[in-house]
Amino acid sequence: MKNFLLGVFATFVLGALAAGGLLHAGVFDVAADAPHAPAVHRLIGWARERAIARSAAGIVPPADLADAGRIRRGAGNYDAMCANCHLVPGADDSEIRRGLSPVPPNLAQPDGRAGEGGAREDARRFWIVRHGIQATGMPAWGRGGMDDQAIWDLAAFLKALPGLSADDYRRLVAASPGHSHAGLAAPAAEQAGRRESNEAQAGQEAHAAHAHPHKAGAHAH
Ligand code: HEC
Repeated sequence: MKNFLLGVFATFVLGALAAGGLLHAGVFDVAADAPHAPAVHRLIGWARERAIARSAAGIVPPADLADAGRIRRGAGNYDAMCANCHLVPGADDSEIRRGLSPVPPNLAQPDGRAGEGGAREDARRFWIVRHGIQATGMPAWGRGGMDDQAIWDLAAFLKALPGLSADDYRRLVAASPGHSHAGLAAPAAEQAGRRESNEAQAGQEAHAAHAHPHKAGAHAH
């Protein structure tokens, strides 16, 4: 028994040394244009879904995700913050999306997302948008200052998005308040403390005001 345990321990130590040696030698390619092998990709995807399902288990979506106001507000924020990576109706790809590994799913297509639909999928999306996904391009928008109601607005919009034509999408974004969640302006103003309240107010308004309609191809390179 003692020898067996020593054998297990020695195997563990040798394995750890070998793994450390490989990492030190720099043989693992971390380039974003050298994606994981399909089996590794599947393994990471499985672990990700297990972890998200566990973390999102207690999240109960609000009852009004079909509300037109929520969908409209979500459209403006989606266009400002998500469209470049997750695309819009009528767009096949974007520069940033091509360069990312994993590739962000096309959320404008019905098959662009995983998940089983219904409340569990809404909760899953809420969790992903709030917390992001480690070691991918998906940011934790909660860290950036997006409040929970703005995230639910996005979840409401994501339900509607695959059913929109390119024209519907443009009309909805035009009717929205643009990039309207408070973002960093509010927490930064709170932290500053000494700042005059009218300055803080002006900051929030300035942030909300850069409601930039997404003009694909407008930059010149
Ligand atoms: C810089 C690129 C980038 C931006 C910007 C971005 N995402 Fe993502 N997002 C990703 C990537 C990459 C993934 C896939 C991560 C993975 O496969 O593990 C992802 C995954 C997701 C998913 C899960 C999709 C599914 O069903 O599997 C949702 C929902 C999502 N993002 C919503 C959003 C929303 C809403 C915004 C804007 C507030 C946003 N993302 C902004 C890159 C981005």
